[in-house]
Amino acid sequence: MCGIFAYMNYRVPRTRKEIFETLIKGLQRLEYRGYDSAGVAIDGNNNEAKERHIQLVKKRGNVKALDEELYKQDSMDLKVEFETHFGIAHTRWATHGVPNAVNSHPQRSDKGNEFVVIHNGIITNYKDLRKFLESKGYEFESETDTETIAKLIKYVFDNRETEDITFSTLVERVIQQLEGAFALVFKSIHYPGEAVATRRGSPLLIGVRSKYKLSTEQIPVLYRTRNIENVKNICKTRMKRLDSSTCLHAVGDKAVEFFFASDASAIIEHTNRVIFLEDDDIAAVADGKLSIHRVKRSASDDPSRAIQTLQMELQQIMKGNFSAFMQKEIFEQPESVFNTMRGRVNFETNTVLLGGLKDHLKEIRRCRRLIVIGCGTSYHAAVATRQVLEELTELPVMVELASDFLDRNTPVFRDDVCFFISQSGETADTLLALRYCKDRRALTVGVTNTVGSSISRETDCGVHINAGPEIGVASTKAYTSQFISLVMFGLMMSEDRISLQNRRREIIHGLRSLPELIKEVLSLDEKIHDLALELYTQRSLLVMGRGYNYATCLEGALKIKEITYMHSEGILAGELKHGPLALIDKQMPVIMVIMKDPCFAKCQNALQQVTARQGRPIILCSKDDTESSKFAYKTIELPHTVDCLQGILSVIPLQLLSFHLAVLRGYNVDFPRNLAKSVTVE
Ligand code: F6R
Repeated sequence: MCGIFAYMNYRVPRTRKEIFETLIKGLQRLEYRGYDSAGVAIDGNNNEAKERHIQLVKKRGNVKALDEELYKQDSMDLKVEFETHFGIAHTRWATHGVPNAVNSHPQRSDKGNEFVVIHNGIITNYKDLRKFLESKGYEFESETDTETIAKLIKYVFDNRETEDITFSTLVERVIQQLEGAFALVFKSIHYPGEAVATRRGSPLLIGVRSKYKLSTEQIPVLYRTRNIENVKNICKTRMKRLDSSTCLHAVGDKAVEFFFASDASAIIEHTNRVIFLEDDDIAAVADGKLSIHRVKRSASDDPSRAIQTLQMELQQIMKGNFSAFMQKEIFEQPESVFNTMRGRVNFETNTVLLGGLKDHLKEIRRCRRLIVIGCGTSYHAAVATRQVLEELTELPVMVELASDFLDRNTPVFRDDVCFFISQSGETADTLLALRYCKDRRALTVGVTNTVGSSISRETDCGVHINAGPEIGVASTKAYTSQFISLVMFGLMMSEDRISLQNRRREIIHGLRSLPELIKEVLSLDEKIHDLALELYTQRSLLVMGRGYNYATCLEGALKIKEITYMHSEGILAGELKHGPLALIDKQMPVIMVIMKDPCFAKCQNALQQVTARQGRPIILCSKDDTESSKFAYKTIELPHTVDCLQGILSVIPLQLLSFHLAVLRGYNVDFPRNLAKSVTVE
């Protein structure tokens, strides 16, 4: 995830300093979407200058670092005034290429900055496009997918058939070549004072502010057409004529400002009048007039885009309709797990390709054992996938808590492959374990959510889990994405094992339906809230299960203790008789995770043992499980998936439960006491 912000002042004189301040403020509002580097593109000279040029300022680090950098640029006069100006800005959360100034946005078409672009999303066919453009002599400077867009628009411009081709036509042609998801805003020296923005799959909205009356409340969408007379021929096909009635502007061509952003949090302090773009809309501003056109009719087939009035508070916008980032992140999981798989799992050919590991696959296949190391939730992702990794790789798999691994001076050999699981990529214990394994010459693999983090830099190779920034201290969506990343690794390792083909197909099929099944689980939220109402005054909560769902118990208990401050323990049901059974009585709340998997019969035994001691189990079970529900005090019924993926679905009710318990107990869900998001000390 990244944040896009752009600002156009039309006949509203603004000094360069004021423009900087607006751009920086916009980025700061979006920083929660990503914060590893940032950049802006602004006019290098004022409107009177004959020679246009665009100045790029980009910096690794957060928006504050960019802000400081802007004022260090002594070539730029801060007092110079622009009557009309278009500035674009971006805060990045890296997906392709490490965070540094070159990889940050805006990306440019060439050294002369003829076209510059900011992008949120992922272009999945960027390698093919890049190859094509390189074959035409375009030289690339970054590792990003976005740079192909900047080069592609220049290619289209360089090869235009008419001199008067419009900026929006160029963009239209560019997006026809793009696959994946994007929200884009373009600026160009060839179209001074003009802006073009478009989206597909990533959000983008436009705010409008003017003290004068606006020409319209509904902007008609223009379609390409062959039949309409009175047309302006802008490329080979035709578009309805662009006139004042099809544009939004301040009546009498008076002063107006436009704000483009990934979400309303960056716009709301300037204006609450916004237009939400739909997929494939191309919005263009020229001479202070905003028009929208598209090639394909939209799914909703709405022939216009309304100017809406937002009634929301800033905090509310950043968190969407959610009261906490943790809650928002729980509900983002259908999308985040999809993003983890996107471009990697091919559901047609039943293959998986993790680009960061492919060159090391031979070496990994020859190794003595896999050691999977992490802390807290990241460690639980290792526990959750151990069995399927053993099955698919046919290798011994050790899972290790980083601190304990170091305390034991665990023997590590050069033919070991060591995985380091870390959302932040900065956890001190995991990082020290990584250095320990490197010293012993093992192959090291990072599985992180933060491109450019210490762990992703110091490992030999790795996987970016692509879950998007996680702000709530309690990890949720990172866990499910780590889980899927490790399963994908197992699938990649087993590609040519004939005996495993049916199993691989079954798992890949299961992966495909996960986003929909997660939505189904999330729809249980109200029921889980009711359960929380019954439990929130308790002191303790036990979570019990075994096999594929043992990790769910550990992770659920960790969520409960860290944000509700209740005592909670994840118990392996097989260990029940060896001690924990002594805790069971009428009062002790117990959650049991019982799924239709190879451990089902054994879980039934545990259930009998609990009910025989007057325990009143709350059971997380499969929808069709009539057996367990007979003994349950309460049941939460979950959709069924492949046994080794069930843990992704069974953990979500516990994430939701911990959230509701914490709210009912009156605690700050996103910032639990004594804890930090990134633990950079031992
Ligand atoms: C729990 C939680 C922590 C982290 C742990 C490791 O909700 O977030 O247990 O999982 O501190 O952090 P990373 O994954 O950043 O290495």
